[in-house]
Amino acid sequence: MHPTYAVVTGASQGLGKAFATALAKQGYALILVSLPGQHLGELSDQLAFDYNVKTHFFETDLSCRENVLELARQVNAQFEVSMLINNAGVGGTVRFDEASAEYVDRIIQLNVMATSLLTHQLLTNMRRQEKAYILNVSSLAAFSPIGYKTVYPASKAFVHSFSRGLYQELKDSNIFVSVVNPGPMKTNPDVTRRIEQQGFFARLTALDPATVATYCLRKLRKRDTVIIVNRGSWLLLKLLPIWIKLPMLTNSIKKELNISHEKSFSDRHYRPARQ
Ligand SMILES: NC(=O)c1ccc[n+]([C@@H]2O[C@H](COP(=O)([O-])OP(=O)(O)OC[C@H]3O[C@@H](n4cnc5c(N)ncnc54)[C@H](OP(=O)(O)O)[C@@H]3O)[C@@H](O)[C@H]2O)c1
Repeated sequence: MHPTYAVVTGASQGLGKAFATALAKQGYALILVSLPGQHLGELSDQLAFDYNVKTHFFETDLSCRENVLELARQVNAQFEVSMLINNAGVGGTVRFDEASAEYVDRIIQLNVMATSLLTHQLLTNMRRQEKAYILNVSSLAAFSPIGYKTVYPASKAFVHSFSRGLYQELKDSNIFVSVVNPGPMKTNPDVTRRIEQQGFFARLTALDPATVATYCLRKLRKRDTVIIVNRGSWLLLKLLPIWIKLPMLTNSIKKELNISHEKSFSDRHYRPARQ
């Protein structure tokens, strides 16, 4: 049993839930965070019961700066944190000129602001621990711009770059920083539908979130600074020149537009900010 806590954002479902479950199996005490109204309390109780670990949960909208600061304040006041998994993230597919201001803002606030600010606010707490780990969830999309996604790949390039820089800055400290760049995962019905629409290659390479979470935690322990899950897709993105991959990926994503309109990972759950 770990005396210190692992904080997992976006823990109510998808990859975040898989991380929470894998950590509970390893005996970690957990602090789960996600939007209100997604049965996070039930998941928290279930994990505590199933794995005999301490669990706490915070329901808050992390795309709001004040909520991130308040969450960090409460966590710092009550818990010792030895792991932070910045998993909460949103994306979407839309013609940029048809996107709402709120859509653009939400991706940037959650993927960029919340990831960096929460990390910043929990750093002093993590410095107190004997060993601590930060894992930021980026995406394969960090390795190429993509039309009709535009803001999302740019936000994940930020997460990747931020994580690499912080790793270097903290490499001689007790805090180890890593970033994972997963490819498509069938985490929820929206994403599953979009993967199906993207064609054969996306369907072929789609990953199971539980497998990804377990793999990431193993790699994190081995101090892998950049965790690549889909090696083949990653290599392809590394090797292809931008003039090939940019139109190729954009055309593939464009197929989604025929069916969906300004759909984001978490649109179905979006609710106004709450403390
Ligand atoms: N799925 C993929 O194909 C894929 C590929 C590469 C990278 N990723 C990355 O992996 C991470 C997880 O993706 P996923 O597919 O598992 O997503 P998901 O199934 O949509 O789950 C997203 C999680 O984030 C939470 N969340 C959303 N907006 C939030 C907000 N404003 N404040 C607090 N929590 C919020 C959601 O909470 P609620 O349940 O309460 O809404 C949910 O727990 C993301 O960073 C994503 O960019 C995903």
